[in-house]
Amino acid sequence: MTPEITPTDATLGAVVGNVRLAALDGEAFAAIEEAWHAHAVLIFPGQHLSEQEQVDFSRRFGPLERSLTKTHTQGDPAIIHLSNVKKDGTLWGADSDTGRLLKGNNYWHTDSSYKRIPAKASLLTAKIVPRTGGETAFADMRAAYDALDAAMRDWLADKIAVHSYAYSQGKVGGMGGITQDEWDDLPPVEQPVIRTHPATGRRNLYIGRHASHIVGEDHDESRKFLEELCVEACRPPRIHIHKWQVGDLVIWDNRCVLHRGLGHPADQPRRMVRTTIAGDSDEANEWVA
Ligand code: OGA
Ligand code: MN
Repeated sequence: MTPEITPTDATLGAVVGNVRLAALDGEAFAAIEEAWHAHAVLIFPGQHLSEQEQVDFSRRFGPLERSLTKTHTQGDPAIIHLSNVKKDGTLWGADSDTGRLLKGNNYWHTDSSYKRIPAKASLLTAKIVPRTGGETAFADMRAAYDALDAAMRDWLADKIAVHSYAYSQGKVGGMGGITQDEWDDLPPVEQPVIRTHPATGRRNLYIGRHASHIVGEDHDESRKFLEELCVEACRPPRIHIHKWQVGDLVIWDNRCVLHRGLGHPADQPRRMVRTTIAGDSDEANEWVA
């Protein structure tokens, strides 16, 4: 089977057909990895993977990252449940700890940028989708970098941003559901504002809601600047929105893509399962599962 790759109309994203991720040979995986580097987001409709099959496919991209909080996991710390459905089938309200943790996902971000070694990729599968809403949007930070003028690129070249989960969650009132021990493991970290992709050599912006301010610049002004940069970066044609069907799997490259959930009515269930690939690093990574 040769995977069929159909690019979206945006600068990122492709739909991949004629492939079964649960039974993938080395050649097909190589084609998928190459397409992923080119398109940064790959959408695999109708895969219906079990959690174990998702873990097995994910591991082909590298070691998995463990979840930030026990709230999101049930046993295996590498399998993250993003769900407003309680065990008894009733729903968490928007103003519960879980509701507020999930709300944070509705603002442009890249997963784990607040960790010292941020995530390489995330894989998300849809188990229950709401009747209305619940889409996920993706924004291409390679094309956003390319769209900057030369003076801005030069100015940003050596800038470092402080990324902090306490900052980003504080903004959405989502500080509950995380224990003090978990907060102690999450001090603010510094990340370059411009990254070069290790596989493609392309430069891209590395920003999003966890980016609090720029080191060495005025705190409040640089915060406002980063927010405006993010708004400008996340505009068409750099956006692709995925409308989920049960069984879909999407993988995105956290090194060069921002994403956000578009939200859905709180009285409708939505259940997603995420696995996260740890960032490549020569250093020991305390977040590897
Ligand atoms: C995530 C995320 C958004 C969504 O899984 O990391 O941000 O639409 N998800 O569920
Ligand atoms: Mn996310």
